[in-house]
Amino acid sequence: MSSTTSIHGMWSSRLAFILAATGSAVGLGNIWRFPYTAGEYGGGAFVLVYLLCVAAIGVPIMMAEIMLGRRGRQSPINSMRALAREEGASPFWQLLGWVGILSGFLILSFYSVIAGWTLAYVFRAAGGLFSGVDAAGSEAMFNALVADPERLLAWHTVFMVMTALIVARGVSSGLEQAVRWLMPALFVLLVVMVLYAAQAGEFRAGLAYLFYPDFAKLGARFGEAVLSAMGQAFFSLSLGMGAIMIYGSYLNSRASIGQNVGIIAGMDTLVALLAGMAIFPIVFANGLEPGSGPGLIFQTLPIAFGQMPGGSLFGALFFVLLVFAAWTSAISLLEPMVAWLVENRGLSRPRAAALAAAAVWLLGIACLLSLNLWSDITILGRGFLVLFNDLTANVLLPLGGVAIAIFAGWIMRRASSADELGLAGDGLWYLVWLVLVQFVAPACVVLVFLNAIGLF
Ligand code: PFF
Repeated sequence: MSSTTSIHGMWSSRLAFILAATGSAVGLGNIWRFPYTAGEYGGGAFVLVYLLCVAAIGVPIMMAEIMLGRRGRQSPINSMRALAREEGASPFWQLLGWVGILSGFLILSFYSVIAGWTLAYVFRAAGGLFSGVDAAGSEAMFNALVADPERLLAWHTVFMVMTALIVARGVSSGLEQAVRWLMPALFVLLVVMVLYAAQAGEFRAGLAYLFYPDFAKLGARFGEAVLSAMGQAFFSLSLGMGAIMIYGSYLNSRASIGQNVGIIAGMDTLVALLAGMAIFPIVFANGLEPGSGPGLIFQTLPIAFGQMPGGSLFGALFFVLLVFAAWTSAISLLEPMVAWLVENRGLSRPRAAALAAAAVWLLGIACLLSLNLWSDITILGRGFLVLFNDLTANVLLPLGGVAIAIFAGWIMRRASSADELGLAGDGLWYLVWLVLVQFVAPACVVLVFLNAIGLF
């Protein structure tokens, strides 16, 4: 087992790692992206494929990604270079780290814009703007926000500065405390929202929509739906770009990777399902459209907050906690670039964080303008925000994930991987993991790709 430590600092305990990795995984992906994507593909069938992808592809790849990070102990680019050397493989493998940096860059540029919507909604809730609002009013409120580039820019800027500040201080010190208290608080609030939806919404219809797998609904969009479900699993679990790898590099050598991954993936999935259970009953009770796209939670939740007693306070609290969840994810998106700048360009951490965040901020402007002034500029039929969202989740992250699986399963010696995972090389768990990363995960991703482009 590797016994070195990272120059960027180490987690103070196993719990700190679990909290940070869960902080990375749980974010807008669960509460904003999962419900609207499930809604775009008709609910249950999408959700079932999503859960299968988490179990068969996400969990083994997350174990592989943490393992590579912990053995490499550097930024993903340098870890992959060092591991390839150690295993006598081509230095070409460091490309994995570069693609990861590109993915992180693209994701954070739009993620910060959406986090900006969330910040704006804290103030709308607190200001009592939700009280008594109906479906049309809530839709109009959302449309007014996305049509206003200056407002979007202001909130996007606030969020990028918040993110850069924490990364500048070093994630191992800043992150632990925040996640320890705020994640459980968000969880409790989500449960309260589900209870509210159970009592005030069309709960049965919402649950049936989310959990009854009706594949007939997918029809001609089957390939696209399966690709999106898989992409959602990668996005939600923060896989395939080095975020979880770099968090693994700050993990001490004794912790059991398999157990940690079970907890992280389990919590991430639970939060996504709770979000769905809170939102769809309200969607159906108010005659909203489940497939209305990225605005879904911003159009739905205000109606619920507007009707419940104490809704202004409760709504503000909910969006504050969602901002925190987004923040702890954004930090993990920025960290791989910053660690690389520190290692290879000799920058101080604050300088590296400022530089990386400024570059992401600039690209984020293209994303927010694509919602209004630049709405007629499209590539592959999509504006920048939607393009980056689809391209990263559905293409770049799965590609990165397969490369991780192949390296861990085929390139790394079994003695190294069994040792690093803390499993007996001839034990059942190790063999299950090995079959999943060697065959199942790569084959599934390739088949889903081929199916989506109509070749299979
Ligand atoms: N997992 C985060 C979420 O669900 O909001 C988003 C994310 C973070 C994606 C880090 C990818 C990543 F590397």
